[in-house]
Amino acid sequence: MAPTSTPRAPEPNNIKKPRRPTCFYVLALMAFLLITLSLLLLFSHLSGALNHTSRIPSNPTSWHRYVRASPGHVVHPATVLEGSSMGKVLNHQGLISGDEPTVLVRDSRTDKVPSVVIDFGINTVGILSIEFAGAEGAGDSLPGLRLAFSETLEHLSDNSDFTRSYNARKGSPEHLTGGTDQVAVETAPYTWTNQLGCQRDNQRVCSDGLHGFRYLRISLDALDADAPFTAPQGRVSISSVSLRLSAFLGTPDTFTGWFECSDEDLTQWWFDGVYTNDLCTDIFRANDTEPRDAVAQGLLGKWVLHDAPKRDRDPYVGDLAVAGLTTFMSHNTSDAVVNVLADLADHQRADGWIPPASIFQYTLRLFDYPLWWVVCTYDYVLHTGDLAYLDKYYPNMAATLDDYYPPLMDKSTGLVVKPGGYGDYAFLPRSGPVTYYNVLYVHALRRATLLARHRGSDYDADAERWESRATELSAAVNAHNFDAGAGAFFDGTCGSGGEYCATHAQDGNSIAIVGGVADAERAESILKYWASAASREWGNSFYDNNALGGDFGERTYAFISYFEIVARFETAGMVGSAFEEMRRLWGYMAARDPGVTFWEGTGDSYNSDSFKSRSHGWSTGVVPLLSRYVLGVAPTSPGFETWSVKPRTGDDDVSWARGEVPVPGGGEGIRVWWEKVEGRGFEMGVQVPDGLGEGKIAVPVEGRAIVRVNGEVVWDGAEDGSGRVGKRKRTAIATGDGYVEFEASGGKTRVSVGYAREL
Ligand SMILES: *[C@@H]1O[C@H](CO)[C@@H](O)[C@H](O)[C@H]1NC(C)=O
Ligand SMILES: *[C@@H]1O[C@H](CO)[C@@H](O)[C@H](O)[C@H]1NC(C)=O
Repeated sequence: MAPTSTPRAPEPNNIKKPRRPTCFYVLALMAFLLITLSLLLLFSHLSGALNHTSRIPSNPTSWHRYVRASPGHVVHPATVLEGSSMGKVLNHQGLISGDEPTVLVRDSRTDKVPSVVIDFGINTVGILSIEFAGAEGAGDSLPGLRLAFSETLEHLSDNSDFTRSYNARKGSPEHLTGGTDQVAVETAPYTWTNQLGCQRDNQRVCSDGLHGFRYLRISLDALDADAPFTAPQGRVSISSVSLRLSAFLGTPDTFTGWFECSDEDLTQWWFDGVYTNDLCTDIFRANDTEPRDAVAQGLLGKWVLHDAPKRDRDPYVGDLAVAGLTTFMSHNTSDAVVNVLADLADHQRADGWIPPASIFQYTLRLFDYPLWWVVCTYDYVLHTGDLAYLDKYYPNMAATLDDYYPPLMDKSTGLVVKPGGYGDYAFLPRSGPVTYYNVLYVHALRRATLLARHRGSDYDADAERWESRATELSAAVNAHNFDAGAGAFFDGTCGSGGEYCATHAQDGNSIAIVGGVADAERAESILKYWASAASREWGNSFYDNNALGGDFGERTYAFISYFEIVARFETAGMVGSAFEEMRRLWGYMAARDPGVTFWEGTGDSYNSDSFKSRSHGWSTGVVPLLSRYVLGVAPTSPGFETWSVKPRTGDDDVSWARGEVPVPGGGEGIRVWWEKVEGRGFEMGVQVPDGLGEGKIAVPVEGRAIVRVNGEVVWDGAEDGSGRVGKRKRTAIATGDGYVEFEASGGKTRVSVGYAREL
């Protein structure tokens, strides 16, 4: 889609002509200027745009420069951090430059352990290879290497920040290492590849195989337990180090959707979010996933969306509520989502509960994840139009909603209560009629209602039952759980007395808005309270205080923050605060090690633990936020059969945006560009591929405006509906939140909003 066209100057005329008097040229020039001027005025009147200079880049692929993926599956390190290296190391950069090998030397056990720290520049995941140029050991022993991986310099030590064995039970065959991968380096040159397993019998010289990391410390050292196979001394020459990427390789040609705007940080974070999510998109293999009974026979060899490349490497359905959306908006890898949804539904318990993940052979008890399964099913069906999946798994959805949750409702309040022994996305010690579980149930019931309605009148009974249950539950939450003092919902009750505790949570309050439990007044009150009570340097915390746990008032999850920011984008008057929170949350992570990838959670105390992952699909909400709200494209029925375009432009936040949101079928997606035109209004182009049905387009208006669609006036009046209607036919409506909306069909639609000049 091309930005605003500027009228072209006429081509110079080179053909020699007979000489004419000067006054002829002056007259001709004047006539030409007059005609050009009147044409220009006519054009501007018709299109609503004067010949302003567009700030949108003219190069349609200018977004390629933000893509983080390496060009191919083999990833090379960026540099050796000489300041972090130790002991006797010759030719530090040799393994990068390829001139001469880097050599680690340790003549005796009393010498300092030599080590080099290799930096891959950004987080990555896969199987490491080391090309050796020769080695010398001590006596009959080969020289040993120990490899320690880390996502951050802060947690880089002699042991990995995380390695698969840390999650394995001691004594189990999965428990191979104590924190480093070991190599017995052969004396002749060869290439070693990191495989899960041991180089010698009886669990000697072992390795955990695949790693997600940015930094790698290679030390010439050996474990006592590996003697006599390896010795902690000798000489090892390394020609090169590389990684075979195991995850999805997201090069520019693989993008089915993309986003670009006037704010380069926001644009970069969109692509960083996609890169983070790509690192989680991988084939399910028994030898590199979560070691605690997580092998899913039905997923082996299939694409899945793991929670993170480092750990736990298991697909969790709650995470997909954000990570799945990132997938749908960036790459044609929705199989990675549906494979997981289908596999978990195939393991549904007889009482309707759906497991959160394959871990512990599908028995990990989480209370909220079956509801996230319903929400994820809705998102998947809307983005892909996969009705065969909906037909097959609709009974599973009905069983979760109708069999599992209703018996857990407390008759006196009408609210569901979590049974003992169940946790949630953060294993929180909450109790009683928790707002989060109840509003998420409402949200899931309403999503399911839309799916039932789409299936037709045979499913009307389901739709009515779910809708009325959602309405009753919503009324009960409003009647019991709202804290008028704070202007926000309580989290739940404390102790056995049934008193509400003096604490409020981001999840329940945000999803109350997203799920339509909070009315407009409560929504505004909640969002104002949260901005004042929970704002931290790194985002908004997930509780407003530490009443339930040590660091709760400091800890931030980008996962749950996504829903708070959605609530801000969807609540009139709060859009500026959505941009502000996005910048604080993703800006904090982008500016800190490991850079680029987004973290499982944020907060000093939370991340003092090296176990936490710094690359987590559930933290990539910046991608759907920018595509769905700033670009403004969303499906409104399965497969984009109907759709909407409603850009949230903020105040001085973004001056232009453009991009594409994929639709099913493999061709072009819905393309949108918009631009604020200095002092005059707003211009937008929407291009909808053939085969999609009708949609709704909404444009921002302030006060009195004229809205033209493909040159024709559809609105002439004020945003509150008043003003001049007169001679022109009005086919658009004011939606009451500062937008004018009209129906549109496929093809190209050009919209312009004009102000003062015309009124
Ligand atoms: C896991 O098994 C596959 C197939 O045998 C192999 O290609 C891969 O290298 C193994 N990964 C690890 C980490 O050992
Ligand atoms: C995605 O890939 C599948 C085949 O794997 C193809 O049928 C489909 O059309 C593609 N969709 C898009 C949006 O590229």
